[in-house]
Amino acid sequence: MLIVGNWKAYVETLEKAKRLYAVAKRLAAAGHHEIVIAPSAPHLGFLAGGNRSSVEFAAQDISSSLGGAATGEVTAGAVAGVGATYVIVGHSERRAAGETDALVLQKVQHALAHGLVPILCIGERERDAEARYLAHLRTQISLILTALSPQERKKIVVAYEPIWAIGKSATEAITPTDLNEMVLYIRKILTEFLPGKGASKINILYGGSVESGNIRALAAASSIDGFLVGHASTDAASFGALVKAVT
Ligand code: PGA
Repeated sequence: MLIVGNWKAYVETLEKAKRLYAVAKRLAAAGHHEIVIAPSAPHLGFLAGGNRSSVEFAAQDISSSLGGAATGEVTAGAVAGVGATYVIVGHSERRAAGETDALVLQKVQHALAHGLVPILCIGERERDAEARYLAHLRTQISLILTALSPQERKKIVVAYEPIWAIGKSATEAITPTDLNEMVLYIRKILTEFLPGKGASKINILYGGSVESGNIRALAAASSIDGFLVGHASTDAASFGALVKAVT
């Protein structure tokens, strides 16, 4: 399983970042899945620069600009240069701040051009009775994949993160049955862009209130490849318990 800890802006002190990194290193060394952490940009630079462990690093976002005269922007080249191998793109919290699909596509393309694996976040705001949310997810995936080459399509990770489930608690997350359906649905869309066995090799993650109390049931009931974990990844004990729960 691929388990990505998205620290968001929860971790502000370097001391805490170092503590969480130490936990991630222990989990990765014990062979507990592929562990990726996504600290804030300054902490990413500090920790990933000296990384000698099997923990991998993700940037929480990158700029849609290529660099140059763009004050305050953190480019794909900059995060790749300090040792990130993944980048979260199109997170709902970035989209809520005004990020459009067009910007998400630019970020995905910059990531790929710098050898970073984009973790493309998609997800519906709510589940309407007419199931329009399914069409919404299809659009979010299609807009990006249409613009990529067949080779590039193989290099992305898709994170299904229903917005209604983010930042709550395990009891309010998606149910294993619904997650199963969603993974099948997303995989089906991917087969339209990646014929043959291509789509089965794409990692699909789930994110939205994954905690130690629900991760095992979610993992068991669906063909999910991993999880994108927010708040529960920013507490050492919770993250350790969560990762070990699916070992
Ligand atoms: P959460 O966040 O685990 O706190 O719900 C997940 C995410 O937004 O990536």
